[in-house]
Amino acid sequence: MKVIKSEIYKTSNKKNEEIKEHNDAPKLYIETYGCQMNVSDSEVVNSIMIDNGYALTDDVKAADVIFINTCAVRDNAEQRIRNRLQALNAMKKKRKGLIIGVLGCMAERLKEKLVQEEQMVDIVAGPDSYRTLPQLVKQVEIGQKAINVLLSRDETYAEISPVRKDANNVTAFVSITRGCDNMCAFCVVPFTRGRERSRNPESILREVREVISEGYKEVTLLGQNVDKYNWNEGEVNFAQLLKLTAELDPKVRVRFSTSYPQDFTDEVIKIMAYHDNICKYIHLPVQSGSNNMLEKMKRGYTREWYLNRINAIRKYIPDCAISTDMISGFCGETEDDHRDTLKLMEEVGYDFAYMFKYSERPNTFAARNFEDDISEETKKRRLSEVIALQQKLSLKSNEKDVGKVFEVLVEGFSKKSQDRLFGRNSQNKVIVFDKIDAKIGDYVNVIVKSCTSATLLGEIEK
Ligand code: SAH
Ligand code: F3S
Repeated sequence: MKVIKSEIYKTSNKKNEEIKEHNDAPKLYIETYGCQMNVSDSEVVNSIMIDNGYALTDDVKAADVIFINTCAVRDNAEQRIRNRLQALNAMKKKRKGLIIGVLGCMAERLKEKLVQEEQMVDIVAGPDSYRTLPQLVKQVEIGQKAINVLLSRDETYAEISPVRKDANNVTAFVSITRGCDNMCAFCVVPFTRGRERSRNPESILREVREVISEGYKEVTLLGQNVDKYNWNEGEVNFAQLLKLTAELDPKVRVRFSTSYPQDFTDEVIKIMAYHDNICKYIHLPVQSGSNNMLEKMKRGYTREWYLNRINAIRKYIPDCAISTDMISGFCGETEDDHRDTLKLMEEVGYDFAYMFKYSERPNTFAARNFEDDISEETKKRRLSEVIALQQKLSLKSNEKDVGKVFEVLVEGFSKKSQDRLFGRNSQNKVIVFDKIDAKIGDYVNVIVKSCTSATLLGEIEK
């Protein structure tokens, strides 16, 4: 999943406008770290807090309550958040009554420790306890510390309509499952987000209809492993949910993340191939190209199985873009294992990848059973080789697109110039082009004129 940091706020949302008319409404500021699922969760929190009389603000200095929605997947994510909490704590010392809450995966992992030992925060709330946030704030207001890290087997926030940050009002995330049962040896997510559970399909489709009626043009269905989506013991599986979503409006694009190689079926590929509005892009994290490592990681598939899935994608959707996540330096990884990873990357020819050094996470299977025995230096060197190779592969993939015309959904202005826009094609590649008369939210046909390894550069076709 893409690692992003965004500050969640919403000023044009109707619900928020109504609240804002009462200027005395307490102000909530949320900062979100980590994966798209966290972005989606922050939107649920926005909704819960607005319903309880809060207004959202994008100005941390104006806030009465600050929530930091956290990520625990790697140690450096946690370190960054700790630094941020320290800075906020300094602010708290100067401003009496300011309430600071830690939400999400770090809250779940560290529980009472955050409040007791570090004394930095007032509220600690795990991913399944957001409905109780208004009560937790009240508890703090009467002088108590407030902690709720109970994980649930059935919480999906199904009926809550998330209040979205209106960065573009074009693309929306909709969560379809919560938690994960895979228990990959390196991963903390099953511990911080709890058991896998699927959200009621009617509530998913209702939310998608809602965002379409608000003018959104693209919906991304989210889950740690979307392929495990299963409503009512097989009544609706992921392929069927994808089909139902795509059929709501042929002009609205549908994406999904994340697929899991072992569970990724031909049925899903065929549905993708059949519906023009399902984007031709699959994020299928492999983690390693070595069978030894895959077994130790408890991924449940081999490189041969993975390549079979890639072949199936290529067979039904020849123009499909494929990306992956990679971990370098997992416990016991040899140079041969590392070379297997590089070979697999070449063989698949990934269009892009998210690449990480292994970071041991307390209490995971790997932490309990294996030694974190690859030196920092070796991890770094292997990761840099993986990154260098991916840059070559991405450039090669982008060069193949020069001269082609793509339908692009315009998402925003280019960082460098207000005269240029950016958007993505179905393959999830970012394309930058001169604005002419196009606007955010339009579909435009863009011919690719040149590229870098990260971006396609083009012109609107007249
Ligand atoms: N299935 C999830 C995965 C969440 S973690 C999803 O929806 O994307 C995202 C990525 O972080 C993983 O695919 C893996 O590549 C990486 N990751 C997870 N735990 C890690 C660890 N302990 N060290 C390094 N990278 C890790
Ligand atoms: Fe983590 Fe594996 Fe689930 S990477 S989120 S345990 S699929």
